[in-house]
Amino acid sequence: MSEVVTYSREGNIGVITVNYPPVNALSHAVRSGLIAALEQGQEDSEAKVLLLVCEGRTFIAGADIREFGKPMQKPGLAELVETYENSEKPLVAAIHGTALGGGLEMALGCHYRVALNSAKIGLPEVKLGLLPGAGGTQRLPRLTGAQKALEIITSGEFVGAKDALALGILDVVDDGEDVKAAGLAYAQQIADEGKPVRRVRDLKDKIAADKGSDVFDQFRAVLQKKARGQFSPFKCVDAIEAAFDLPFAEGMKRERELFTECMDSPQRAGQIHSFFAEREVSKVKGLSKDTPVRDVNSVGIIGAGTMGGGIAMNFANVGIPVIIVEMKQEALDKGLGIIRKNYENSAKKGRLTQQQVEDRIALITGSLSYDDFKSVDLVIEAVFENMAVKKEIFAKLDAICKPGTILASNTSTLDVDEIASATRRPEDVVGMHFFSPANVMKLLENVRGSKTSDEVKATVMAVAKKIKKVGVLVGNCHGFVGNRMLHRRGAEAMTLVNEGATPQQVDKVLTDLGYPMGQFAMSDLAGIDVGYRIREERRNAGEQVAPSWMDKLAEQNRLGQKTMAGVYKYEEGSRNPVPDPEVERIIEDFRKEQDIGSREITDQEILERCMYVMVNEAAKILEEGIADRALDIDVVWIYGYGFPAYRGGPMFWADQVGLDVILAAVEKYHGDVGGEQWKPADLLKQLVADGKKFGDL
Ligand code: 3HC
Repeated sequence: MSEVVTYSREGNIGVITVNYPPVNALSHAVRSGLIAALEQGQEDSEAKVLLLVCEGRTFIAGADIREFGKPMQKPGLAELVETYENSEKPLVAAIHGTALGGGLEMALGCHYRVALNSAKIGLPEVKLGLLPGAGGTQRLPRLTGAQKALEIITSGEFVGAKDALALGILDVVDDGEDVKAAGLAYAQQIADEGKPVRRVRDLKDKIAADKGSDVFDQFRAVLQKKARGQFSPFKCVDAIEAAFDLPFAEGMKRERELFTECMDSPQRAGQIHSFFAEREVSKVKGLSKDTPVRDVNSVGIIGAGTMGGGIAMNFANVGIPVIIVEMKQEALDKGLGIIRKNYENSAKKGRLTQQQVEDRIALITGSLSYDDFKSVDLVIEAVFENMAVKKEIFAKLDAICKPGTILASNTSTLDVDEIASATRRPEDVVGMHFFSPANVMKLLENVRGSKTSDEVKATVMAVAKKIKKVGVLVGNCHGFVGNRMLHRRGAEAMTLVNEGATPQQVDKVLTDLGYPMGQFAMSDLAGIDVGYRIREERRNAGEQVAPSWMDKLAEQNRLGQKTMAGVYKYEEGSRNPVPDPEVERIIEDFRKEQDIGSREITDQEILERCMYVMVNEAAKILEEGIADRALDIDVVWIYGYGFPAYRGGPMFWADQVGLDVILAAVEKYHGDVGGEQWKPADLLKQLVADGKKFGDL
């Protein structure tokens, strides 16, 4: 028998235990061990009922993702689940932690299921570009009916034990904390009552109730909006529908075919890259795992604006008290009022109880004095982008805060070293760049200055985890990783419109690629004045910044959503961008004024110029060591800008397009369009010369 699965007996209960850290994934060793342990249980004449339980932090969390893409060694997962379901002795699964994917499918193959109250179940395969491939699409609907199975499988979201009990997925929820004790007690009850085996595949009621229903087509219509461009959610629906149209064995065959289609799709490769990249970013190059981390039990925030308020909520949400300092009482009251409104809205949507709202608000206090920062562990400055103001603030913080307080700036572009130079403790200064809306977006771009200590770097990465963000540690330069690339894309998009494209054409190319919104819809959200002010500052500083049709929008007070008109126009109460003939006229006038001829621009050119300009910049970012690895850049874009996870991030996407193809285009645009942004990155040239990819770095 393999060491990762053992068989033992307690009284008349045969216990099959999986112990394969960290998450008991169904590797080949676990699968074959499970078969051997079941055989032992069947042969053990003293065992009346068999119990499947796991050691460590969780029940089986799914198939072993690291084995994907390699030839499947027998026994396969579906075969394993079938063998369990066929057991002549009643089988009980006892669940703690998370029973996910193949793990839940194993539990569905067992005849009875008990879970601890804290446990969660789910079929998250869709988030890996897959569908449940070991009977999940055939067995779950037999317990829950079509609608709930569709919701659970196509969302991949976890379901808490109590809800799973109500849905019929679990038989019992145990309030204790000892999963083995809970499993043994329930198995004993089954043995004492002489309950028979009960196979999910034989259940018929829910199938009969929803057979031929139009719920599947309705669901597909919803997915057309929610999961546009994605492959696996639609395949999930097809597989679930097969559970209603076909006998069980044929449904399983159909599930297998659809699973294989997903497995072979490039989206699966992209999703799995994203999954591992998200976990890899926490392992920072050159930062030992043993680096000491400072305690962060209280936080100060400067600025009660949109960013400051959103940042404060992140800490209150995990029980860390926050003091927000503003200059004026009015601004403070307004900021605190918005925080309350945001929480109240979450309560209205049922995401928080009124008590949780009050508890969180109670953790956030307002103040007009920096003196209140005397004893906090971390201060995050979130005022507008002005170096002089930021330096003044950091000098004040340096004088007031206790030794060891981390002084962070939420700057999105400015030089962290220059900010740090205003203090006598540059080793404690760091960038913590949140993305708007800061209480929602999952990315936290932590920016290391040249003097930031390892302890501070490790602490801000730990803080990211604590507040449930994905932290990426990056180097210091104008715009860091995310905004530096975004600025290149923004400038290129603007130029494409100068040359003849329409804003809506550019945006459609980007949303067709899978971004949630296009460049110009995003400008309207952020405010047209933001980019305008940056261009004006650069012009005032004597830089050559070409005029743009977007300057005209700003000058006419078309500032975006906030003035209900920007690149697009907006109806009262709607955030839906509507193309505006007035903007077409402004663009047309601008072209005439600048004597720019307009030409037909293809979608392919838009895609290449918006994406390749970013990839070229990203190669320079890697070359300069601003990002340590290509996957850091992928994670920044997936979690900060909504780059579709199923394409794996811009670097993974570039590897799939082919770096030779991209380099050839970059060289062409360097000739045709010109400019620093199209000067091919040395790293890109080197990789192509060596026949390598970003993923090989
Ligand atoms: N296979 C292999 N490794 C896995 C894994 C899996 N299914 N799930 C997690 N891991 C690894 C992670 O990569 C990480 O490794 P590392 O320490 O070397 O970086 C380690 O386990 C711990 O994972 P997390 O850092 O994510 O730990 P958390 O405690 O935050 O979360 C979890 C635990 C909720 C289980 C989360 O890891 C998770 O969601 N895992 C994926 C679950 C999943 O998608 N299962 C479905 C797989 S597909 C399938 O089953 C197909 C079947 O239908 C045929």
